[in-house]
Amino acid sequence: MTKNNSHSTTSATDLITRLSALHPDLAILGPDDLAGRHPGEHKRNFDAGVMAQPGSPEAAAALVSWCATHSVGIVPQGGLTGLVGGNVSRAGEVILSSQRLNRILSIEPEEMTATVEAGVTLEALQQALKPLGLSTGIDLGSRGSATIGGMISTNAGGILAFRNGVMRHQILGLEAVLPSGELFSDLTRVVKVSAGPDLKHLFIGGEGAFGFVTQAVLRLEPERPHRATAMIGVPDAMTALRVIRHFRGLPAVTLEAAEMMWPRYIRDHARLKNVELDWLEETASALLIEISAEDIDTAKLAIETGLETLWEPLGLQGGIIAQSLAQAARLWDLREDSGFYYAEIPDAASFDISLPPKFLDDYVSGLQARLKKIDPTYEAYVYGHIADGNLHLTLIKRGPLVETELRPVEEAVYTGITDAGGSFSAEHGVGLEKKFGYERFLSREKQALARTLKLALDPKGIFNRGKVPF
Ligand code: LAC
Ligand code: ZN
Repeated sequence: MTKNNSHSTTSATDLITRLSALHPDLAILGPDDLAGRHPGEHKRNFDAGVMAQPGSPEAAAALVSWCATHSVGIVPQGGLTGLVGGNVSRAGEVILSSQRLNRILSIEPEEMTATVEAGVTLEALQQALKPLGLSTGIDLGSRGSATIGGMISTNAGGILAFRNGVMRHQILGLEAVLPSGELFSDLTRVVKVSAGPDLKHLFIGGEGAFGFVTQAVLRLEPERPHRATAMIGVPDAMTALRVIRHFRGLPAVTLEAAEMMWPRYIRDHARLKNVELDWLEETASALLIEISAEDIDTAKLAIETGLETLWEPLGLQGGIIAQSLAQAARLWDLREDSGFYYAEIPDAASFDISLPPKFLDDYVSGLQARLKKIDPTYEAYVYGHIADGNLHLTLIKRGPLVETELRPVEEAVYTGITDAGGSFSAEHGVGLEKKFGYERFLSREKQALARTLKLALDPKGIFNRGKVPF
């Protein structure tokens, strides 16, 4: 092997020259190009200094093939909205970006499917579907940047998971470049396939460890544009679940969202944004709901009637129905602009867990008590996708925590979750930052099987080295 073929000694300039010659549809960016770009949610995402942007699956395959031959590590990247460090890259590696794979290839309104390239953003697809009366059936706060490929790789969930399931349930087929450089192509467009193991699921939630997704077929849902939005005061999660059950049981309306914010989160956020909460009892949590119906008045009436019916029996602690789109947007902002606290507490430790919903109240009070035991000043912001049991938790303390501070917090957050049938990572993935949870709380058998599969597909370990410990 010559000096220049060794991954540790190949300089970025050499690497760029070599990669640039691999395929006419492969754009290569170097450190100067990357210096002017925003690295996304993690400041070390661009540390590799070299980014390959294929414009076709074949160009991606050519890049991967070369990297496999020369044992150069590859870090797949999409919209860079990941929150667990899964896109962090290092010198000597090549970033493989889906940015130029941004075409919507086909939309089939009758069969309700769309075939897209991996770099299409969720919002771009939503915008293309809207005039056809269709929606993606999956929605997230980071819709403007998050790409379909990235959402596949982390098995994203978001707002509609309680109704439609997560990314895994919306994907009918996909194409990916394997670590060997071969294309795995399974652009199936039907729901029913009972033809042996469904291998596409390796790439869904695989966090780029098994390959690079280039295309996907999504199943679609009808778009229901006539909506009413309300925020309801609830004493606890169980009450919120009863409110949710009421609205899901009504025949003429559809529950589109049910998001909960515990008291400290909603109070601090509303104060920061100058939003008046005088309608909400001081100790109440806020449940944000959105209802669709055949027209807006029917949706609003369902909420009004629901609040009247449920108020006394459930002991509701406030309610406000948005009277305009602008007011609805303000209510949504309180939930979706969840990064508001980073201004006050930069690098705060945050977590993303799920539990069967009936355990949520005990879990949250137990968690706050466990945190206080570690340090009497510790408390967590709690908010999330209540209807499917997915909570986001943020320690109200400036970070980053050093390892000796972080471990007890992780233990406090993850305690009891696996035994209750939940997950230490619900929708954000494992990446770099949840490796402790993966090693400690995922069964030995699952970890061993994942490692066996990784070794079979990527024996040199070129894809996303040092991340999910497959
Ligand atoms: C949210 C992201 C953090 O739900 O998953 O706001
Ligand atoms: Zn979320």
